[in-house]
Amino acid sequence: MTTISPLIAGNWKMNGLTHSLGELTELARLLTAGEAPRALVVVCPPATLLAAVAAQGASSGIIAGGQDCHVNASGAHTGDIAAGMLADAGAQYVIVGHSERRTDHAETDDEVRAKAEAAIGAGLKPIICVGETEQQRDAGDAEAVVIAQIDGAIPDAAEQHEIIVAYEPIWAIGTGRTPSLEEIAQIHRVIRDRLVERFGERGQIIRILYGGSLKPHNAREILAVENVNGGLVGGASLLAKDFYTIISAV
Ligand code: G3P
Repeated sequence: MTTISPLIAGNWKMNGLTHSLGELTELARLLTAGEAPRALVVVCPPATLLAAVAAQGASSGIIAGGQDCHVNASGAHTGDIAAGMLADAGAQYVIVGHSERRTDHAETDDEVRAKAEAAIGAGLKPIICVGETEQQRDAGDAEAVVIAQIDGAIPDAAEQHEIIVAYEPIWAIGTGRTPSLEEIAQIHRVIRDRLVERFGERGQIIRILYGGSLKPHNAREILAVENVNGGLVGGASLLAKDFYTIISAV
């Protein structure tokens, strides 16, 4: 069986001012105090803190990531940020297609795919998010929705370049609710099969992260599920102690 080294990413969303870097300092202290973590650790702060996270995290192995990027490399797009700018600020990863972006900015799979391509073009590794609404799950459509997102949002370039998939059921985000372990295993299996169908051997080594109310109390069991190769953590990534507990759970 192929082994994939786990990755835990923290998505700070629109949280964090300069003083939040104290949590990053504490996380760095925790990460370097004991045994080295098994997981790669990525922190995706708001763009204003990206350079600081990249600089401050470097000595403890914390890698910086962006939360979104534009499809274009530059131009007249007020308020947007290009993948190359994230890389310039020290990012190595970027989240694309988060459900909050899909909802707040009406992002489609086509746009998410273009963003992932832009990220790859800038040398970043895109973390491509997929996930169903509660209504879609209740209707029995979760797998079909996620497969359609995988097909639509993952670029062909994933055949030669590293990408990460994050499965985030929308109804689990920030709610304290999670799918059962069996449900997580089932949908991650379906995602893996589709990736293999599409990318062959390479599909076996693409990381599939779980996100949605991943917390210190449930991290160990969720991260042990087959085909769960790490996590994308929202709320619990804001506190160094909680995030460290999740990182240490793999
Ligand atoms: O991107 C991570 C996220 O959407 C999950 O958020 O707060 O439920 O861990 P949370």
